[in-house]
Amino acid sequence: MTAVRPETTARTAADTSFPPGFVWGAATAAYQVEGAATEDGRTPSIWDTFSHTPGKVRGGDTGDVAADHYHRYRDDVALMKDLGLKAYRFSVSWSRVQPTGRGPGVERGLDFYRRLTDELLAAGITPVATLYHWDLPQELEDAGGWPHRDTADRFADYAEIVARGLGDRVGVWTTLNEPWCPAFLGYGSGVHAPGRTDPAATLRAAHHLNLAHGKAIGALRANLPSSAQTSITLNLHQVRPLTAGPEDAEAARRIDAVGNRIFTGPILDGAYPEDLLADTAHLVDWGELVHDGDLAEISRPIDVLGINYYSPTVVSLAPDGVGSTRDDGHGASDHTPWTGCEDVAFHLANDDVTAMNWAIDADGLHTLLTETAAAHPGLPLMVTENGAAFEDHVTADGRVDDPQRIAYLHAHLDAVRRAIADGADVRGYFLWSLLDNFEWSYGYSKRFGLVYVDYPTQRRIPKASAHWYAGVIRANALPT
Ligand code: NOJ
Repeated sequence: MTAVRPETTARTAADTSFPPGFVWGAATAAYQVEGAATEDGRTPSIWDTFSHTPGKVRGGDTGDVAADHYHRYRDDVALMKDLGLKAYRFSVSWSRVQPTGRGPGVERGLDFYRRLTDELLAAGITPVATLYHWDLPQELEDAGGWPHRDTADRFADYAEIVARGLGDRVGVWTTLNEPWCPAFLGYGSGVHAPGRTDPAATLRAAHHLNLAHGKAIGALRANLPSSAQTSITLNLHQVRPLTAGPEDAEAARRIDAVGNRIFTGPILDGAYPEDLLADTAHLVDWGELVHDGDLAEISRPIDVLGINYYSPTVVSLAPDGVGSTRDDGHGASDHTPWTGCEDVAFHLANDDVTAMNWAIDADGLHTLLTETAAAHPGLPLMVTENGAAFEDHVTADGRVDDPQRIAYLHAHLDAVRRAIADGADVRGYFLWSLLDNFEWSYGYSKRFGLVYVDYPTQRRIPKASAHWYAGVIRANALPT
């Protein structure tokens, strides 16, 4: 998308409009929608291995077929065009374009993304490519995975292959999607692939994901036209202490450190926070982990910061010294993903929850955007994911009525609009998700789509929320 700078106009409380040029989008990710798991030279990623391991994913679901986007992308782009989407955020499957995670790229794999982006461009929809949405080639995990430093160099090579392969048609690039998840859920609680539960490996993975991001920014810059925009997407936790007491403030500080500042520190400020290093010094030797030059590499400038938000994170220090190993929304586990914070307990912000049991709290998005904007002046923001899963059903006459999703979206888009009015430079909003899809350890049991997918037939049914969102895009404003 072009670097649209929202016009600053005087706004009244009743004004429900968005700045001219606001980017309206929807998002998906390769493993969650593509299917075609063994086609055109694609080799297994850690999510193929994990989902095929009994007991790891609800119902034994896998991404083998998913929403069959690999074969149905033309119809899906036609749906996007009907919705009036201005941009589509998708991810590239690493093991499709560089099957073993090493060596040259595979043209057949790159060709899928060329076909997809050609179709998007012909429909007037801006492609926004994410290089890594959690599907590490299995061979790289076998060689040590993200806790192993070499994986960051492999990622830089892969970034170069994709930039050279798609750089003539994709102008907006994201290195990593939510690196917290592969680090802390993949190697901490083990509810995500590769399913390891090792606190030291978690922190090593986090550093190497940061390093991979920095190296990939270098590779993208070296291989893309200067007009290309680069970014990373973080699931910044909107952390709140349960009470005003000092113990809960301490819990919030520690969760903010391992949930947010472990990424924003090195990426945006060029250093790991001192309190994070002190909190985790018993788990990892940071002096050995972080090499000279790493921080300069990690903090290469980016053009946009992507933020994913679903629900706030309310914490307290557990009085008995034992924290909850809560279901953190990505699957229950006996282990906490919050490395070094085992005595922190988590709470719902309120009882109004989605099908994920995530509290609905739109003000959290306003706070996150305004606070992030204030902390990083001059850095444009993009909401790269927001949305909700609800129990969707097809009516006898073939409709899907989802008033709760419409209410969720209305409230959260209003929060974005208010954040812009309060000075945050938010350039766009990508709804999660375009399609119902494979919700990681929950399999197909959770539906986040604007478009319902009847998996046995792969029939697509735009939900009532899709029609509502199309109206918002047309008006560039929320209904009053
Ligand atoms: C964030 C992730 O990026 C996406 O893959 C996931 O489906 C949504 N959150 C909902 O959990």
